[in-house]
Amino acid sequence: MRPRRNRQSAAIRSMATETHLSVQHLVFPLFVFDGANLRSEIKSLPGIFRFSPDNLLREIEECMKLGLTNFVVFPAVADALKDQTATYSYAAENFYLHTARAIKERFPECCLISDVAMDPYSSDGHDGLVRNGEIVNDETLPILAKMAVAQAQAGFDMLGPSDMMDGRVGYIRQALDEQGFTKTGILSYTAKYASAFYGPFRDALDSAPKSGDKKTYQMNPANKREALLEADLDAAEGADMLMVKPALHYLDVIHLLKENYSQPIAAYHVSGECAMLRAACNNGWLDFERAMPETLLSIRRAGADVILTYFAKEFAQRFPSGI
Ligand code: PBG
Repeated sequence: MRPRRNRQSAAIRSMATETHLSVQHLVFPLFVFDGANLRSEIKSLPGIFRFSPDNLLREIEECMKLGLTNFVVFPAVADALKDQTATYSYAAENFYLHTARAIKERFPECCLISDVAMDPYSSDGHDGLVRNGEIVNDETLPILAKMAVAQAQAGFDMLGPSDMMDGRVGYIRQALDEQGFTKTGILSYTAKYASAFYGPFRDALDSAPKSGDKKTYQMNPANKREALLEADLDAAEGADMLMVKPALHYLDVIHLLKENYSQPIAAYHVSGECAMLRAACNNGWLDFERAMPETLLSIRRAGADVILTYFAKEFAQRFPSGI
């Protein structure tokens, strides 16, 4: 046996390729803030911007032309609008909800995904309600449900609960169904770890916790079997897709969920993971043109059907017909 025979030409290598990655598998995370004709680069994630709604529509238009159709949008909310119960998250005047409506009116064929969590709107900077220094679970759920229904009303195709409260998928599913939003999907952040790699994201949204950390709700990076428990619950509660986050440092968890569940598996290649690669490339230490596709391919090879990555647009520009 000579394994090199299958590597001897581009044609043979191509035939023997086990894993493929195309723009259809990618979701592009986008940051939106209120205003007009604004665009500001995230310092800790060069090449990625926060957009005012008008410019966000332009960005989405460019992506759609490249065949990139899937977006997850996060709001950067002014401090003055934040409070302890995240009331702005479902307020009628919320610019995030208005932006979603405008996107779906203009690009009905895109898949628009939301973020369901209190942190962008919380004066405490936590994903759940803080009471006497504790992040309380059950009192958070009705707030998440109100947020979810408002997002479904605004036209989001899928909602992304990213808060890691217990029981939130079932609670949100029931609230959506009761309001008639039976077609709105749930992309659940199933195994979301208390990771150091969310730094640039928190810079982008100014959403870092004001006190403490997220370890009482996000998962311990040491744990893998616990991801199965979270996935059992999310699947039973009606999640349409199961997500692992971060991606690169948790390829084993992605693989584990892929082997054990029939739902599509998503992986979030998070801000810090993208920033590391970008920094090395900008320093001339790695070649972005090769390191970026190899990185995304590794996440897909581990078992991700869907990848959320800040490199989605650059992948689409370079590999219109996939790799
Ligand atoms: C919070 C949320 C976070 C991310 C997505 N949703 C950060 C956090 O948990 O503090 C991180 C994404 C990234 O780093 O790219 N609801």
